[in-house]
Amino acid sequence: MTPRDLLGKDGYGPLAAMSSRIPGFYRLGVSERRRRLADAAGLGPAELAILDSGGLDETSADGMIENVVGRYALPLGVALNFRIDEIDYLVPMVIEEPSVVAAASNAAKMVRAGGGFRAEVSRPIMIGQIQLCDVADPDGALVALAAAEAEVLARARRVVPGLVARGGGPTRLEARVLSRPGSPDGGMVVAHILVDCCDAMGANIVNSVAESVADFLAEVAGARVGLRILSNLSVHRMVTVRADVPDAALADDDLDGAAAADAVASASRFAELDPYRAATHNKGIMNGVDAVLIATGNDWRGAEAGAHAYAAQSGSYRPLATWRRSPEGLRGELVMPLAVGTVGGALHLHAGARLALAMLAASSALELAKVAAAAGLASNLAALRALAGSGIQRGHMALHARLVARAAGATGDLVDRVASEIAALGDVKPERAREILTRLRAEQGSAPLPVSLVIE
Ligand code: MEV
Repeated sequence: MTPRDLLGKDGYGPLAAMSSRIPGFYRLGVSERRRRLADAAGLGPAELAILDSGGLDETSADGMIENVVGRYALPLGVALNFRIDEIDYLVPMVIEEPSVVAAASNAAKMVRAGGGFRAEVSRPIMIGQIQLCDVADPDGALVALAAAEAEVLARARRVVPGLVARGGGPTRLEARVLSRPGSPDGGMVVAHILVDCCDAMGANIVNSVAESVADFLAEVAGARVGLRILSNLSVHRMVTVRADVPDAALADDDLDGAAAADAVASASRFAELDPYRAATHNKGIMNGVDAVLIATGNDWRGAEAGAHAYAAQSGSYRPLATWRRSPEGLRGELVMPLAVGTVGGALHLHAGARLALAMLAASSALELAKVAAAAGLASNLAALRALAGSGIQRGHMALHARLVARAAGATGDLVDRVASEIAALGDVKPERAREILTRLRAEQGSAPLPVSLVIE
């Protein structure tokens, strides 16, 4: 079943012709954007109306968590220009921070000029951990656990017959000694049961499997059972995204393409050499990844935990994405663990998340992981390109100026004209925007807006 099927409605258009390029999208009002999006994504016109309620009705919200007193909305935007492995994607992003959606769209356009993103994903294998305590002979326990692997997997498969029928399920048992008898922690062994979760993120599946085999593992290892829970450091569930960006696509008024590419490569080295910079570099990546995960109802805290644990796995904290000069321009690569699902979790209850998946038209968790990672690499490129040039404040200011122009009552092409005037004046304030708007309207021969319609 695809995310489109999950919507439970007919009337979607053909996907093959879908393009993620919608020039001028940002200039449109929200309802016109919805119309264009519905056309581009092949969604029935009524589907986007789900968003009127923030994509979540009160009854569903009450079923999702405890002590519900309401719903809490965030903006849902669409990043454009994404092309991954020759397929165009309209990328839903939920985020409170301005500039992220615009920056991802701009960077995706730069990458598109180099042929688009290329991505690889491993099978969706999660780790369930079983802590085995008070082990008198840890080395003997490892041998015994290895000998019992087939029996453990057979027992574990019986817990998830549906998953096994879909081609997934428990695949391997591994074990490591964590501490030895006589040490303050006593003899401690951890067993990892690996589970192919197919299109589910898999937290519930893996926890059930870990709990179900724990007693048997303890018996085999001569141990007392400790914790039984998945690990968010999902190193077997990896995604790699690569992008080539030609020099010319990086040029702007301040820097020519070659200088911009040099500066981005140098910014990458900075993050590789310094964990303080690497943390912010990775934060920029997670701006893109998390926004897609939140939009599609996925556990972004799990993805964050996995990403940062992976970044630190070598013993020093490293950037998840790096950029190098290539003969044509820049080559970037992002490698990270990413556990996402297109079934289960919040998707049962959150109509907005189902809509976001349908808009994306990702037919599997593997495809969703590619898209979220591409959004991460795009966000990273956009940040480094801006930081390497005039800094990020100019872009923020330009966006802020547009918001102020809209708030002052500007519509249509007046938004850009008012925004560019207040930005050029360095006076991004509603009073100045209203003054300029009144003048431009008078020049156009239209009446100024009544004060009651002006939203501050
Ligand atoms: C801000 O949300 C993200 C950046 O700080 C990322 C970076 O510095 O690379 C701009």
